[in-house]
Amino acid sequence: MRRPMVAGNWKMHGTRASVAELTEGLSNLVLPSGVEVAVFPPALFINQVIDGLAGKEITVGAQNSAVQPEQGALTGEVAPEQLVEAGCKLVLIGHSERRQIIGETDEVLNRKFAAAQAKGLKPVLCIGETLEEREAGKTLEVVGRQLSSIIEAFGVKAFASAVIAYEPVWAIGTGLTATPQQAQDVHAAIRGQLAAEDAEVAAKVQLLYGGSVKAANAAELFGMPDIDGGLIGGASLNADEFGAICRAAGN
Ligand code: 13P
Repeated sequence: MRRPMVAGNWKMHGTRASVAELTEGLSNLVLPSGVEVAVFPPALFINQVIDGLAGKEITVGAQNSAVQPEQGALTGEVAPEQLVEAGCKLVLIGHSERRQIIGETDEVLNRKFAAAQAKGLKPVLCIGETLEEREAGKTLEVVGRQLSSIIEAFGVKAFASAVIAYEPVWAIGTGLTATPQQAQDVHAAIRGQLAAEDAEVAAKVQLLYGGSVKAANAAELFGMPDIDGGLIGGASLNADEFGAICRAAGN
């Protein structure tokens, strides 16, 4: 059985004060046992959030990490080694905002993925198609290519210690959620692609859905057989809403 996971990607939101308030709200949540709960604050606030959540069963991750595992001369980046020392367990790799706005390529993302794993930081690989690609019938091709990039470079066993988040770009921050069936179809294809290489890895890997998940639609999405939880943007900035999404994953 795969453990459900609900993760909050705070993106570039927050001030010291708002982060303190959100962290306090998270500390007070009653979380369902059996659901892995994680948050990804901006790098600047990782220490603050880790301190604020001390003793709470919430994992903290980073939204990005460097292409090399160790600290060194790489201005503006944060090394996996440094994130691990701070107490991070997870890192988002390849969020569509970084692919599209920062221009991160599959090649760069492969290096980040490997650098993270080299230090025991578990990558959450984000993949997904744009609206244009979906309308052109290319969804499975695009998502398949993003996944193949890692498989070809490191082998399918790399996903024995990684998570995959399917986030259709057209559903991110738009209020347009994929229907549970649309999301399930892509999740099944992702698991099928992994299963063609290694059935055990495919059966165990957690596949999260992301894109306008909120408390009102979470249970329906998480009820699908290949959807093991969610990667939540906007709705994760409200502790009570996020808590309700976590509870939906526990049912
Ligand atoms: P929203 O939940 O705000 O649509 O964002 C999803 C997302 O990009 C999570 O990484």
